[in-house]
Amino acid sequence: MEKFVINGGKPLHGEVTISGAKNAALAIIPAAILSEDICIIENLPTSISDVNYMMKTLRQIGAGVRLINNSTVEIDARHINSYIISHEITKHLRASYYFIGALLGRFGKAKVAMPGGCYLGPRPIDQHIKGFELLGANISIEDNAIVEATSEKLTGSPIYLDMVSVGATVNIMLAAVKASGLTVIENAAKEPHIVDLANFLNSMGADVRGAGTDVIKIRGVPQLHGCTYSIIPDQIEAGTYMVAAAASYGDVLVKNVIPKHLESISNKLIECGAIVEEYDDAVRVMLSRKPARCNIKTMPHPGFPTDMQPQMAVLLAIAEGTSIITESIWSNRFRYTEQLNRMGASISVDGQLAVVQGVETLKGAPVRADDLRAGAAMIIAGIAAKGTTEIEDIVHIDRGYEYVVEKFSAIGADIRRVYYPDSDALDTVG
Ligand code: UD1
Repeated sequence: MEKFVINGGKPLHGEVTISGAKNAALAIIPAAILSEDICIIENLPTSISDVNYMMKTLRQIGAGVRLINNSTVEIDARHINSYIISHEITKHLRASYYFIGALLGRFGKAKVAMPGGCYLGPRPIDQHIKGFELLGANISIEDNAIVEATSEKLTGSPIYLDMVSVGATVNIMLAAVKASGLTVIENAAKEPHIVDLANFLNSMGADVRGAGTDVIKIRGVPQLHGCTYSIIPDQIEAGTYMVAAAASYGDVLVKNVIPKHLESISNKLIECGAIVEEYDDAVRVMLSRKPARCNIKTMPHPGFPTDMQPQMAVLLAIAEGTSIITESIWSNRFRYTEQLNRMGASISVDGQLAVVQGVETLKGAPVRADDLRAGAAMIIAGIAAKGTTEIEDIVHIDRGYEYVVEKFSAIGADIRRVYYPDSDALDTVG
């Protein structure tokens, strides 16, 4: 087993380079099977485990996957020979369900086990299913565990999403690009990775318009071809380093970003008293005095991202005064506050609200990463705190942060990955 050990209390200084966007990669990798051709994907975060599981899935169904370098992969989708994806793979990550849309789009059939991923509250897929059905697919769910989708012929359709869903928007786009006729997704998600997916599909010859607005129009094309495509930088990884810079009273240049994607995060940091300088493809974050309080409400893009909520809570935990965080996307995304309180934070949770009373300083403690972004928050807290913090369950963090120890160390954090024996395993041996 592994844990992170952090000796905190040192300001972060220097430059960090952001990797390709995890959530864009997780949509683009399955999208590549829609062409019976070869795609080269650049700026891919190949070291994170979620991306690795997606590449394993491709291999399992017969695609060729070749690592060209640390951030470039060639996907050869010409010889895919299966439309079935087992629970062994899907249990590891949420985005495995994008293979339903992609396999349906490619073969008119898909059999995919229900997905795993971070527990943030119930994660229904009713809107995905509604979209597939409106395109003409028959959907059955075996034992609440395996989704089977079949269709003689997918036909474009208007699809209104009852709530803004990133996953449903992606899955419907994947199923619709080769359907005959026009699909119009209304109340679509507008996240940067939706635009990235649309750009990738269009590079393969698809006709997708309006991505980035709440109406996406997809005119089906009979065939897609291979392409070379570079994934956008990761908005949430960038935001994590930006908040870490502020929470440690540091000065960090966060490079390889699209500043426009970071506006909701930059604005909140500025409200807290940080200086945020924007360059063409970098942002510099500095904070030299105690942060000011501010309120946060998570919203679909371009609102404040729910995936930055735990990290931002760390900054508010050491701010002057009391801040209110409203989580409006997920029903159970405050579990990490218990861990922060162990480090001396003063946060009380009431349903979808967290009341954060700023304290003077956090103190190092043994904590755990409840999920991916909760884990990122624990790293920031460990860096900001006085003393030593040990974070367990870091497997969650490895799902979404590339070279996290190397990147934080390079800007002055004292963070190490430490191997320790699994106590359950020792018990069994004993
Ligand atoms: C994606 C992100 C995740 C982020 C979330 C919200 C990926 C791989 N994951 O998750 O990191 O936290 O967007 O920005 O990109 N809902 C339904 N029915 C559905 C689908 C969704 O009720 O069929 C609800 C969900 O329960 C949730 C809300 O809609 O309350 C948003 O979910 P959604 O945008 O689909 O999140 P994911 O795509 O799972």
